[in-house]
Amino acid sequence: MTTPAVAPLSVTDVPPVPTGTDPSPDIVACVEMWRAAHLDLLGHLDLTESPGTLAAGLAQQEYEAKQLLLAREGDRVVGSCLLRRPRRESTEVARGGMSVLPGADPSVVLRALWEAARPALVADGRTTVQLWSMSRAVRPHAPDVLVPGTGVGAVEHDGYAATLLDLGFVLEQVERHSQLEVDEGLERAAGLEHEVLRHADGYDVVSWAGPAPDSLAAGLAAACSRMSTDVPMGALEVDEEAWDVDRLRYVESTLAARGMLRVTTVALEGRTGEVAAYSCLDHHPGLPEVAWQEDTLVLAEHRGHRLGTLVKIANLRALREHAAGVLRVHTWNAGENAWMLRINEALGFREASAEAAWQLTGLH
Ligand SMILES: CC(C)(COP(=O)(O)OP(=O)(O)OC[C@H]1O[C@@H](n2cnc3c(N)ncnc32)[C@H](O)[C@@H]1OP(=O)(O)O)[C@@H](O)C(=O)NCCC(=O)NCCS
Repeated sequence: MTTPAVAPLSVTDVPPVPTGTDPSPDIVACVEMWRAAHLDLLGHLDLTESPGTLAAGLAQQEYEAKQLLLAREGDRVVGSCLLRRPRRESTEVARGGMSVLPGADPSVVLRALWEAARPALVADGRTTVQLWSMSRAVRPHAPDVLVPGTGVGAVEHDGYAATLLDLGFVLEQVERHSQLEVDEGLERAAGLEHEVLRHADGYDVVSWAGPAPDSLAAGLAAACSRMSTDVPMGALEVDEEAWDVDRLRYVESTLAARGMLRVTTVALEGRTGEVAAYSCLDHHPGLPEVAWQEDTLVLAEHRGHRLGTLVKIANLRALREHAAGVLRVHTWNAGENAWMLRINEALGFREASAEAAWQLTGLH
């Protein structure tokens, strides 16, 4: 049984530890709090980082400056705020999330974290702040729900949401979090394949685990930059990201430092050999039954050939080959991304929870 948090709370900065050293006690305490929050909301730990992956992620600051704050009531961690400030593009934006220990008062905890985070954001010229938070899956017309600016999806209008609204954040978008049982996905893939191949004539697929082959790295990097322009983002401010082979290799090295395995499939246009589509899944051996869907994208000029389904099917098979113990895949899609949702539903993904995207503009 937890007791509600009462003011005043202390908020402290958690400094990164050098890559390769043990996570600090603060990092361990933060992950324990996240675990409690995930168990309370989701009933499982499939989406929780380990102290090791969080520590390694915090140490990687080349493309984004990262700051982790912890709120404590006495010795007890009651909240966290993790913010990333992109260094190359979106340089007026900070992105991240705030978590609250179940049973603690979100109004007290979120306000304390926000007051502590604000000065560094202002000093760094960040005028827009975007936060993502989890919610149970709710229907848009149910009582006590909030519908985002996009008009699609909904999240609970609870104490957490009410506090962010009070602080000036706007609910811009809701993403649907869905889960796939891999065995069912593979079975459905076999049934979908014939129709998909009929549309995808003239394309070949290549799959791998780990870093991209040198011959495909430039084409894959070019496709990665389209994720920042082509995915529906509602009114969230996002600058186009410039990707090249150096950036791809940097991301691959950060995944390796966190102990993650990335499984990737590309579709190549047979005539030109160009990368037309790609999809990747991430897996960590610390959670042997779980993988997380990362990017899936078909370049605009290649859409309509079912390449999204083609690369997802091939990548699911590659996942089974390289990480045979994975039973579940999690994915997040904007509610208005009908094209991606249709593909995922055909593969057997089912709604599990919702994710709110909040934005505050005009910070000074
Ligand atoms: C989602 C996506 C991968 C699907 O591409 P795809 O595999 O080419 O789509 P399909 O072949 O299944 O397309 C089915 C139909 O929808 C259309 N379509 C697909 N994506 C579309 C889009 N973004 N906008 C408009 N129409 C689209 C196709 O042209 C096709 O039309 P047709 O039946 O008249 O020929 C692609 O839209 C995309 O890359 N979007 C941007 C990246 C993205 O949102 N990724 C997911 C992030 S969570």
